[in-house]
Amino acid sequence: MRETTLTVDSGSGGYEVRIGAGLLDRMGDAVRAVSHAPRAALVADSNVMRLFGERAGRALEGAGLRVVPVEIPAGETSKSWERAGAVIEAFSESGIARDDVVIALGGGVVGDLAGFCAATYMRGVGVVQVPTTLLAQVDSSIGGKTGVDLPRGKNLAGAFWAPLAVVADTATLSSLVEAEWTSGLAEVAKSAILDGEPAVGALFGDSEALSRRDPGAVEMAVIMAASLKVRTVSADERESDARESLNLGHTLGHAIEKVAGYGAVAHGAAVAEGMRFAARVAERMEGVSVDWTARQDLLLSRLGLGRSGCAYPPEALLEAMRSDKKVRAGEVRMVLSRAPGDWVARSVPDEILVAELVSWCGAQRRTEEGAR
Ligand SMILES: NC(=O)c1ccc[n+]([C@@H]2O[C@H](COP(=O)([O-])OP(=O)(O)OC[C@H]3O[C@@H](n4cnc5c(N)ncnc54)[C@H](O)[C@@H]3O)[C@@H](O)[C@H]2O)c1
Repeated sequence: MRETTLTVDSGSGGYEVRIGAGLLDRMGDAVRAVSHAPRAALVADSNVMRLFGERAGRALEGAGLRVVPVEIPAGETSKSWERAGAVIEAFSESGIARDDVVIALGGGVVGDLAGFCAATYMRGVGVVQVPTTLLAQVDSSIGGKTGVDLPRGKNLAGAFWAPLAVVADTATLSSLVEAEWTSGLAEVAKSAILDGEPAVGALFGDSEALSRRDPGAVEMAVIMAASLKVRTVSADERESDARESLNLGHTLGHAIEKVAGYGAVAHGAAVAEGMRFAARVAERMEGVSVDWTARQDLLLSRLGLGRSGCAYPPEALLEAMRSDKKVRAGEVRMVLSRAPGDWVARSVPDEILVAELVSWCGAQRRTEEGAR
């Protein structure tokens, strides 16, 4: 069985990200390699517990760990302060101790929530992230950001808590519903655009295979995107320069999610729309060629991320962008791609944002035909 190991160089000592098909059944060994814990609190949502709970439990028991399952309801609403309290109570009631380990088995919701509970319970218990969505395998499980949403916004309470290890079994992705799969592909496209021409070319070449989730293509895409995240957070664990690049497409993306009402638009669809918009702003502010914009549009379309339209008033989107955490000195920050592998972060004046939003929310400016 093939396994790829990437190493995150973190301020707190570093950890490995293991990627491969079938790793779920061998995760006991991966946990043992980083922990002598007698017990494992296995946190998963209702869907993931049903799909993979038994196999994960067997793998952990096979490595001599006693398993305490902690199930939460599926969905973003579980990423709450109240649910975190309930999970921490469950740790306490079942006698989870400081030398035990938390296993976060699932998508970004479970990863963020279980990671946050691990960070705070007894002032910190080790956590192993076992991501089972594409978004979680290429993004949220790596980098140590954990947290919960508050009524006033997403991720408003949280902690940096680097995992002991990340174990990504790419075979688990075959059961994802199509919307979750495509949503994750937006992050994969973002990674390729930030990474450079070889990654962009490879993603174009594999786009058809990815749409049928060919195991080899899936593994290569996860390795490419996870590698970029590993390199980025290794350079910059606490988000200032390099880590800002990961916000490509997220400035407008987050605004769309907020204006539409959380859950109404898939995260990936919103980010894809944000990447298309950022390409237009890059043309205007950086003199980027229209060919690069057209190519990014085409890449997203090939990955099943067509234009989702812009059904929201530009003023509401601008207001939402301005309320984002990333506003600096009153101006909205955007990551702009100048070419494959070449990006800058810029403060974008309101008048440019308004003009571009008005034009973007109007008719689509050019067709994608013949862009490559
Ligand atoms: N910490 C970070 O750096 C970071 C980065 C990006 C996003 N996030 C967070 O991640 C969250 C979104 O994560 P997500 O998109 O993975 O959503 P999610 O965790 O809600 O998972 C999506 C759905 O897929 C189901 N599922 C998970 N694995 C499955 C599988 N293998 N087969 C079938 N179904 C499966 C889940 O039960 C859920 O219903 C957001 O809260 C976001 O804020 C965090």
